[in-house]
Amino acid sequence: MITRIRAGRFVDPVKGCVEQVELIIEKGKIARILPPGEFKEEGPRIRTINAADKLIVPGLIDMHVHLREPGEEYKETIDSGQMAAVAGGFTSIACMPNTMPPNDTRAVTEFIIEKAKRTGLARVYPIAAITVMQKGERLTEFGELKEAGAVAVSDDGFCVTNSEVMRRALEYARYHGLMVISHSEDLNLSRSGVMHEGVVSTRIGLQGIPAASEEIMVFREISLAALTNCPVHIAHVSTAGSVEIIKRAKDAGIPVTAETAPHYFSLDHKEVAGYNTYAKVKPPLRTPEDVQAIKDGLAEGVIDVIATDHAPHSDIEKKLEFDKAAFGMIGLETALALTLQLVRDKILGLPEAIGKLSLSPASVLGIPGGCIKTGVQADLAVIDPECEYVLKREDILSKSWNSPFIGKKLKGRNELTMIGGEIVWERKSKHPRC
Ligand code: DOR
Ligand code: ZN
Repeated sequence: MITRIRAGRFVDPVKGCVEQVELIIEKGKIARILPPGEFKEEGPRIRTINAADKLIVPGLIDMHVHLREPGEEYKETIDSGQMAAVAGGFTSIACMPNTMPPNDTRAVTEFIIEKAKRTGLARVYPIAAITVMQKGERLTEFGELKEAGAVAVSDDGFCVTNSEVMRRALEYARYHGLMVISHSEDLNLSRSGVMHEGVVSTRIGLQGIPAASEEIMVFREISLAALTNCPVHIAHVSTAGSVEIIKRAKDAGIPVTAETAPHYFSLDHKEVAGYNTYAKVKPPLRTPEDVQAIKDGLAEGVIDVIATDHAPHSDIEKKLEFDKAAFGMIGLETALALTLQLVRDKILGLPEAIGKLSLSPASVLGIPGGCIKTGVQADLAVIDPECEYVLKREDILSKSWNSPFIGKKLKGRNELTMIGGEIVWERKSKHPRC
């Protein structure tokens, strides 16, 4: 069987261009990339996908996802998360270790890999814990975890408070070829906070989390990266101050990379003024000035990656008083539309935007993907950048629907996802345009 994808515009983050080409896929790989009309073969062996008016992009890669299995399968399972991923255009996801039990052992890493393989949906790369039980005290067995298939280590959801432990983690991780992903939060500053500390928190009477809670730890991680010359990746950057600190570190040649999530460039702290717990997230939604700084950071290349921090929670954790609700929002099915808004707003070019959702995370984690060229596995998505729709709860494939974007108008949608040459997801829409 040969698959031909015709008439689409191919977004190439490697060359930084958009070209009209035809992709020929054979035996799960990109076999040929041809100018339009050059492919002449016909017959039963040829399956044609018509991508007219659509964009063909490398399969998106989300390096920051919370699958809740093992332990909280009522929020998300590995396969429901994989399903949400492919619906959103993601062909690979990396999952954080804050499950129950946490992924701090070979057994849990292997369980995730085995379970994920069975569905044939998005490729799943486990991120293991930095410390045993994510308690911030004793390092896990990085060598064993790497051997079992972990691609990075992180105590995401918690901060490694002890700087000596973090220093050793950076050194030990570099030795084993694992990236360390930092959840940067000074817990003494943020402990009882539930939203950004600023005018809105004062007005609505909620305890705040100051920007400094994040920035102090971002600075510490960078100091440790400079001290050890070991790379560190900063997760979910949300403040102007963090962007500034990372920019200076990069200018000084310190090995640091960074990600932000779509909600940090799409929403600000006013979103929680109506006590909407779906907008309660950690780090919290910040000020409009922070939102602007995140956009600038993306445009200038200070922020390398867009990752969702997809954090499913059920109504049990969310339909509560704001103070008591859990932190986190889902993101796999909205990331593409929100990122395309940056292109429409001329903050990023199309290849740059797609690169931050594919090539960059692949390079930070050292995993395959993020580029389409002859000989690579055929992981790709066909997207409709013009389709406009209102996000409805019933359209969400994740097991949880804690998204502040429900009821909001979005533009741009994934239409088809291919992994290893197989169509794993296709939109069955009746709408004439979408
Ligand atoms: O909002 C968040 N939710 N931030 C985190 O760091 C953890 C995550 C979760 O696991 O729910
Ligand atoms: Zn997270």
